[in-house]
Amino acid sequence: MDRYLSIWKRSQFNLLPNPDASSSLIYGEDLKQILSRENCQLALDEITRWPEYEVSPLTSLPGLAKELNLVDVSFKDESKRFNLGSFKALGGAYAVFRFLKSTIEQKLAIEIGSDDLRNRIYEDITSQLTVTTATDGNHGRSVAWGAQIFGCKATIYVPTSCSTSRITAIKEFGATVIQTSLNYDETVEHCAKEAKKQNAQVISDTSWDDYRDIPAQIMQGYSIIAEETLKEYFTRRFRQAIPPSHIFIQAGVGGLAAAITGYFWTYLGERRPKIIIVEPETAACLYASAAEGTLTKASGDKETGKIHTVMAGLDCGEASPIAWDILSHGADFFMTIPDAITGPTMKLAAASPFDDQAIEAGESSIAGLAALIMTATHEDTREVLGLSPDSRILLINSEGIMDQSLYQELVVEDQLK
Ligand SMILES: Cc1ncc(COP(=O)(O)O)c(C=O)c1O
Repeated sequence: MDRYLSIWKRSQFNLLPNPDASSSLIYGEDLKQILSRENCQLALDEITRWPEYEVSPLTSLPGLAKELNLVDVSFKDESKRFNLGSFKALGGAYAVFRFLKSTIEQKLAIEIGSDDLRNRIYEDITSQLTVTTATDGNHGRSVAWGAQIFGCKATIYVPTSCSTSRITAIKEFGATVIQTSLNYDETVEHCAKEAKKQNAQVISDTSWDDYRDIPAQIMQGYSIIAEETLKEYFTRRFRQAIPPSHIFIQAGVGGLAAAITGYFWTYLGERRPKIIIVEPETAACLYASAAEGTLTKASGDKETGKIHTVMAGLDCGEASPIAWDILSHGADFFMTIPDAITGPTMKLAAASPFDDQAIEAGESSIAGLAALIMTATHEDTREVLGLSPDSRILLINSEGIMDQSLYQELVVEDQLK
């Protein structure tokens, strides 16, 4: 094992096997309300018609796979999705489309498509409508973009910790951005209250008691990542139809992880990959929920109790209930990693020390890669996870460089030391 990997080998992590998971569990009717073959197909049919649509690359990292004694490590690269910089492009914009479509259809009793909206056929109605959301950055960008291409207004609330570059990226799409003095979870509540007062439609990527349909549509949009990946595995990557054996996937509120898990569960049943959910240790709401066996808030920093992580997109203290519905039985392991591993892992992706293709990965997108290296270099954990020389690992590069100054600090300047 290369000395280069000693940082990951030495790093502390927590790993919790999910006692409620079993590969033989049937994907139930209640889960199909959230994500099913049919509603994923609907999202696929719509989004693949958009002129901006392209399949995102699935990049093999053979050098790293060899180093970790695995047959394959593949990175699905979402950093260029719709030129928005992250996988979130697939979700928020799709939900904005669905909201505008259903509003017009109800009002006029006709059927319309996304071209009608792009061509501003119903601008007299859409221009009067406002969509709104709370965001750490990427989701807000997707909602703002959706509002711009489909012709409505957007008001985006960001927490106090949101960086200037992330705010600027949202404003580029013509949205009004309001920075609160609150953390992410409080900003979600604030946005919901303001939406009522302003008569705006909340397009949230997290769900709550009586608000499930829109976050479910967002997850259906994300499922395209799994659809494209599976197609590539079955057609080009491996000669026989062999899916990945393990997926290490980072989670904030859990929408992405649940979309990927639900998709593989519905399509592959018992043959689905082992799913390892990865969170920062100071914002681990899904890990806390798995430990308690019920939806539970993250406990935050050990000393201060504060929810805060450098992985901005994962900076969430409360999981999305609909994501938890899927992950509580569909995820095999829950894992937490320290913030300190973020910079070295971004650097590893960028420097490609094992002659792999270099990957520009943002601070929220390398948690899966970090977790893979930590567990694969740890003999006992390898065994617990069933990692072997036959394992085929899937990772998702969920964002590119969204915060240039942080990237400069964590990757470029640190390189010079
Ligand atoms: C880059 C990136 N990766 C992963 C996530 C986690 O997604 P989710 O909140 O759906 O779990 C986010 C969320 O904002 C993100 O921005």
